[in-house]
Amino acid sequence: MSVVVVGSINQDVVARVARIPAPGETLLASSLVRTGGGKGANQAVAARRAGGAEVAFVGAVGTDAAGAALRAALEADGIDVSGVVQVDEVTGTALISVDASGENAIVVAAGANAARDSLTDAQGAVVASASVLLTQLEIPVALVRDAAAARGEGAWHVLNAAPSAPFASARDALLAATDVLIVNEHEALEAAGVEALDDAVAELARTVRGLVVTLGSRGCLVVCGDERTAVPAHVVTPVDTTGAGDTFCGVLAAALAASGRRPDAVGLDLLADAARAGAAASALAVTRPGAQDAVPTSDEVAAFRK
Ligand code: ADP
Ligand code: NA
Repeated sequence: MSVVVVGSINQDVVARVARIPAPGETLLASSLVRTGGGKGANQAVAARRAGGAEVAFVGAVGTDAAGAALRAALEADGIDVSGVVQVDEVTGTALISVDASGENAIVVAAGANAARDSLTDAQGAVVASASVLLTQLEIPVALVRDAAAARGEGAWHVLNAAPSAPFASARDALLAATDVLIVNEHEALEAAGVEALDDAVAELARTVRGLVVTLGSRGCLVVCGDERTAVPAHVVTPVDTTGAGDTFCGVLAAALAASGRRPDAVGLDLLADAARAGAAASALAVTRPGAQDAVPTSDEVAAFRK
C-alpha cells in the first residue's frame, strides 16, 4: 500500500508586512521565513503524517541549495525521495506577502517544476509501485498524463485539479485517466465552465468514479455515480487556512491506500470515509500557522476526532 505524489515542490518565502504594497512601493517586512511548500510536496507530507501507507514524492528541484534542503526535509519526514530529480533551473519559489489582517499576495515562479513534461525511467518505476497516485496541476499537464499512464493496473489516480486554468485546457484527457477528482468550489465551476455548483457537479461526476468538491468551512460534497453525501467541516477557529486543501487531498489519498481496495471497488461509503479523515486533518491544519508545518500527525488527528 503506497501513495505516490507526483507534483510541485517550492520554497515558500514568507514576509510579514503591515499591508500589501502598492505598485512601485517598497515596504519593510517585520519578519521573513523560508518554508517548504508546493501543492505536491504539501500533499506528500499530509499523506505521510496520516500513517497507514508508504509515501513517495516524485518531482523536480533545481541545483541550488534550496532544492537540496527541500528534498532533505521530505526525506526527514519519512518520504521516499528517490523520484526527485535535479534540473538545471531554479527551484520553484513562492514569494508570499502576508499583511496584518492575514490577507496575502503571492507570486509563484515555477522554475524546476515546469522543466520536464515526462517521467524519467526511475520516476516511472516509483509511479508503477503506487497503489494510489495523487497529482495536482502545478506541474505540466503532460507530466500528469504521463504519470497516470505509468501507474499499474488496479492503482488509483486521484487528481486534485488545482489550479484550474491548466485543467480547463486538457479536461477530457485528464478525466479519462482519473478515478477520483478533487476540486474546491471555485475550481469546480471553472472546470465545468458553468455558473451553478449543481450543474458543475453533474457535469464532472459523469466522467469519474468519484468526485469530491471541497467547500472550505462548509465541508465537502462526495459524489459516486448517482449517489452523493455531504461531509461537514469540523468547527474550529481558523488561524491560517493556507494548505487546507493540500492536507485534505493527501490524507484522503492515504485513506484510500490504507483501505486496500481497488478503484473499481469505489463506493460512496469508502470515499466518504476517506473524506472524513481529510476533513479532520485539514480542520486541525487551519488552526495552525503555515501550510506544510501545520499538517497534523495521525495521533493528533485521532485525539481531535474523539
Ligand atoms: P482549498 O484550500 O483547496 O481551497 P477548501 O478551502 O475547500 O480547499 O478546504 C478543504 C477542506 O479543508 C474543506 O473541505 C474542509 O474540510 C477543510 N477546511 C477548510 N477550511 C476550513 C475551516 N475554516 N474550518 C474547518 N475546516 C476547514
Ligand atoms: Na495552516
